[in-house]
Amino acid sequence: MPVAQARKTDHGGEAMQEARTYSLGASDSELARLDAQAASIAAATALFLRSAGISPGMRVLDLGTGLGHVAFQLSELVGSEGAVVGIDRATEMLAVAEQRRVAAGIENVSFVEGDAQAFSDGIFDAVVGRLILFHLPEPVGVLRHHAGRLEQGGLMVMIDFDAGAVRSEPPVPLFEQARGWMIEGFRLDGANPTVGTRLGPLLRDAGLTDVQTFGVQSYLAADDPAGPALLTGVLTSLAPAIVAGGLATEEEMALDSLRERLARALQAGGAIGLPPAVAGAWGRRRAGA
Ligand SMILES: C[S@@+](CC[C@H](N)C(=O)[O-])C[C@H]1O[C@@H](n2cnc3c(N)ncnc32)[C@H](O)[C@@H]1O
Repeated sequence: MPVAQARKTDHGGEAMQEARTYSLGASDSELARLDAQAASIAAATALFLRSAGISPGMRVLDLGTGLGHVAFQLSELVGSEGAVVGIDRATEMLAVAEQRRVAAGIENVSFVEGDAQAFSDGIFDAVVGRLILFHLPEPVGVLRHHAGRLEQGGLMVMIDFDAGAVRSEPPVPLFEQARGWMIEGFRLDGANPTVGTRLGPLLRDAGLTDVQTFGVQSYLAADDPAGPALLTGVLTSLAPAIVAGGLATEEEMALDSLRERLARALQAGGAIGLPPAVAGAWGRRRAGA
């Protein structure tokens, strides 16, 4: 099917049932958290996409598009001669992404429901995925699958977090404790919170060539509300896994007041908050592969 005509399919219907559930759900608060998170890493994302060589006229597949943030950034880079297909298995997220696409009058993006582990409609000049490998149990297999759907010499671009970089400097005990809950909470839930450190090897193992990678680290001032808000938002979404796994009780986390307590503790300690580093890596499909 031509990319411009890509539409909702039930690709990977059975695989979707088998694939593990996205850790963070799709509630209103989770959508708001994804918007804030996307805004905080939009500049890093643009840097990776441009460095990798995403350019006008390309046909690009966006894996795990969510609310379409990356698809909309790609839309500007590929221009009216290019096309972007964003796939996700979360119907609610795609519905919001589609509403936003229509409201913004964006015509070179389409959204398709499907499983990133099995989707195979169309051949692309580039496959992009941000914050998706984090959630996939077998990332190399998925990358290899999509590398096979690239044009010869086509680009694979992956962007993901290294949550191992999260810290306060100088260390603030409450922040460090919350960081531990977050990292272990993701692990308990089957996600890989430090996958950003491994993007280069993952692309190489999937058969990509000319692989390049670098990371972007933000430093938040002690009185910047973004760090406490992001950390509290993630912990609120992960709380069921954290409590079920016995990492902490609801009383210990006290989520209702956590954001404010984190903000106060960082200010009292004059501490810089380091959010997850954002790693980007890209490689090309080997000629003849
Ligand atoms: C953290 S969000 C990232 C969204 C978007 N890529 C961004 O960076 O703003 C992860 C997204 O991956 C989707 N996802 C997770 N596993 C998936 C799979 N196997 N197939 C398709 N989508 C998946 C989730 O539904 C969710 O929308």
